[in-house]
Amino acid sequence: MTNQITLTRPDDWHLHLRDGAMLNAVLPETTRHFARAIIMPNLVPPVVTSADADAYKARIMEAVPEGADFTPLMTLYLTEDTDADDVAAAHASGLISAVKLYPAGATTNSASGVADFDKVRGVLERMAEIGLPLCVHGEVTDADIDIFDREAVFIDRVLDPIRRKTPDLRVVMEHITTSDGADYVKSASKNLAATITTHHLVINRNDILVGGIKPHYYCLPVAKRESHRLALRAAATSGDTRFFLGTDSAPHTDPNKLSACGCAGCFTAPNTMPILAHVFEDDGALDKLEGFTSLHGPAFYRLKPNTTKLTMTKGGAAPMPEKLITAEGEVTLFDPGFELQWQVTA
Ligand code: NCD
Ligand code: ZN
Repeated sequence: MTNQITLTRPDDWHLHLRDGAMLNAVLPETTRHFARAIIMPNLVPPVVTSADADAYKARIMEAVPEGADFTPLMTLYLTEDTDADDVAAAHASGLISAVKLYPAGATTNSASGVADFDKVRGVLERMAEIGLPLCVHGEVTDADIDIFDREAVFIDRVLDPIRRKTPDLRVVMEHITTSDGADYVKSASKNLAATITTHHLVINRNDILVGGIKPHYYCLPVAKRESHRLALRAAATSGDTRFFLGTDSAPHTDPNKLSACGCAGCFTAPNTMPILAHVFEDDGALDKLEGFTSLHGPAFYRLKPNTTKLTMTKGGAAPMPEKLITAEGEVTLFDPGFELQWQVTA
């Protein structure tokens, strides 16, 4: 039985850090385990221009705890008015690592997202030319499409047409939640990868809805039926380099979660690594964990893996606190529903 594993230090390829007091509270939870993270730009107002990204990066660097070695990989929020030259300049200077596409209205703070995909054609073509990845929130927002079908319909109606018109565009389908998403990624010969969150490997839609509604399990894209969760587990633990970790750790205060119109998002930054060790061990795939958390992501983003390590030990793990106290209020950690045996020890 394996009781200790040492991995190349992991990265988080999809993270919400927010701003102000929340940023200060949640950032140490990420820097404790992760060396880099793709930073989501869905602030209010969003991070739209290179100047916005530059200023946000400075605020993040200011909040990095002393002694921590952390690099935020910035993104721009794609709007119908995004200027291709500004994007290209931000890429050339090394400021940004990706551009994020939110269909308008798809999720938290996505009101400025894209409604008419033809309007962003020029930017996408430019990104394909310069090799800058597009991170995609893959859900349609049409009122007539059932929320559980929105990912599959997005692939057919939006993503596949974009990829056919712009085959050189490098795309990350973020936080996939369905076997349709996993299959679509596997069917692509190049330029397509997907992130998978911690929570979508653990919960299905019953966990949200059976026996009383569980607002802390509500996130977007919403968790789907069990067969989809199993498909995600299979993809994550397969060793296929096109799948890697993006926690989508998305902190909201308890009053904002526990409301008649509760916010979407699971806060997983503090306990992701112990949960993933448990999940991969359960599936007999501990040897695939390092690829998922530390190697496949850098390969897609054309970066070197981290040179430092992270060691996890099984047994004797003290229970994690249930909540993180922040100056904005309490934020509840994602509860995987099983006892955590693994802990990060070095
Ligand atoms: C994210 C958030 O709160 O910003 N919420 C979520 O449920 N994942 C937005 C997102 O990534 O969809
Ligand atoms: Zn997200």
